[in-house]
Amino acid sequence: MTRVNAGLRRVPAWTLYIAGAAWGGWLFWLGATGGLGVEPIEALEHRYGELALQLIVAGLAVTPLRQWAGLNMMPFRRAIGVLAFFHVLAHFLVWAVLDVQRLSAIWADILERPYVTIGMAGFVLLIPLGLTSNNWSVRRLGTLRWRRLHRLVYPAALLGALHYVWLAKGFQIEPLLYLFAIVGLVALRIRRAGGRVAR
Ligand code: HEM
Repeated sequence: MTRVNAGLRRVPAWTLYIAGAAWGGWLFWLGATGGLGVEPIEALEHRYGELALQLIVAGLAVTPLRQWAGLNMMPFRRAIGVLAFFHVLAHFLVWAVLDVQRLSAIWADILERPYVTIGMAGFVLLIPLGLTSNNWSVRRLGTLRWRRLHRLVYPAALLGALHYVWLAKGFQIEPLLYLFAIVGLVALRIRRAGGRVAR
């Protein structure tokens, strides 16, 4: 693992931002040019939503991976979090701007369809985290307050997973796997934190 960590240390975090943004842009390009099938808006919505959830799981796994497997992904945690936020944002924008389109219908869906309400709640919780994922905010808030604020990722992740389980039609294993993974990771973090502040 020492060798893997040494190799990882040589990878600058900005490469992850570039790769994540390029992948998101590539998916959009595919959707716009017919590469995502006959329902490109729906496909794009799904791809961004799923990618966001995968990145959220990856972000939550960083600390347990370091503690239990000795794998140090810490230098990439912020990039993973920021990319998760931007993919949720893209997921929301595709849904609102390209899919639903009318403001009244957007509001109606958010208020009346429970799985949309839950997704929206998860997204709203992620907004302050997206906005404060920079050194300036850590300095301004102070480490303790910043860490406390960033614990919002736990309810946000749970809401995101619940949103997926709720919208799945019939019995589907994939949404449940995400939910179990997130419940497990959040439980680990809370147990580990005990009375003190989780890192
Ligand atoms: C933490 C935030 C969120 C996460 C992690 C998330 C994740 C997901 C995932 C994984 C899917 C299923 C993709 C698939 O079928 O493979 C999905 C679908 C969907 N999400 Fe989200 N989502 C979030 C927030 C939102 C928000 C804010 C909205 C809108 C207000 C939204 C609206 C939808 C819609 C309309 C679908 C498709 C439902 C269908 O198949 O008819 N999501 N989301």
